[in-house]
Amino acid sequence: MDFFEKVSQAKIVPVVVIEDAADAIPTARALLAGGISFMEITMRTSCALDAIKQVKENVPEMTVGAGTVITPANARDAIAAGATFIVSPGFCGEVVDICIENDIPVVPGCVTPTEITAAINKGLSVVKFFPAGVYGGKKAIKELASVFRSVKFLPTGGVNQDNLNEYINEPYITAVGGSWLCPAKLIAAHDFDEITRRANEAVMAVRKEISL
Ligand code: 3PG
Repeated sequence: MDFFEKVSQAKIVPVVVIEDAADAIPTARALLAGGISFMEITMRTSCALDAIKQVKENVPEMTVGAGTVITPANARDAIAAGATFIVSPGFCGEVVDICIENDIPVVPGCVTPTEITAAINKGLSVVKFFPAGVYGGKKAIKELASVFRSVKFLPTGGVNQDNLNEYINEPYITAVGGSWLCPAKLIAAHDFDEITRRANEAVMAVRKEISL
C-alpha cells in the first residue's frame, strides 16, 4: 500500500509542533498508543529537524513527515532528516520537484483553482486545503472537487474533534489534519496520556463515521 492509500485509510494526520526535541519520541509513542501512525512535524521550530530524525530513528512504527515546508532548502533538510512525506501550507513548484526527484510523497497547500491546476500539472492528486475553516470548509472543497475530479483534498486549519465527521465521509476528502490531537500545551506539559486519549477518541470517531 502506498503512502496516499494509507493516509486515506487512516483519515487523520496530526499536525505537531515540537518545541523541545526530547518531546518528539514520547509524542510519537502517545499517538501510536491511541491508534494513530502518522505525524507531521512542522518546520516551525528550531528543533524540528532533530525531532523528525529522532522519531524516524527510534519509532519505526510511526510514519513521520515534515510540515510547514516552505522553501526548497526546507524540503532538502526535511528529507535529509528522514521525513517520509512533505506537507506545505502553499504551492511551491521547486519544493514539489525536489520531493518528486527524491520519491517522497508531497502534499502542497492549494485553495484556489490556479494552485490546484499547478499541482495537477506536477502530476499530484492530493492537495492540502488550508486554512480550511477560513477558505470555506467542506462547501468550498466540494465545489472545487466537482471540477478537479482527479484530486483529493486534505483539509487542515480549524478541523477538530467536533467537526471531523463533517469532512471524513466525503469521497473527495482523503483525510483531515490538525493540531487538536497534540496541541503544543499538552506536549509542553508532558500530558502524553491526554494525547493518547485524544488520538483514540479521533480514531473511534472515524471508525464510527465510516462504518455508518
Ligand atoms: C496546519 O499546519 O495545518 C495548521 O496549523 C493546523 O491547523 P489547526 O491548528 O487549526 O489544527
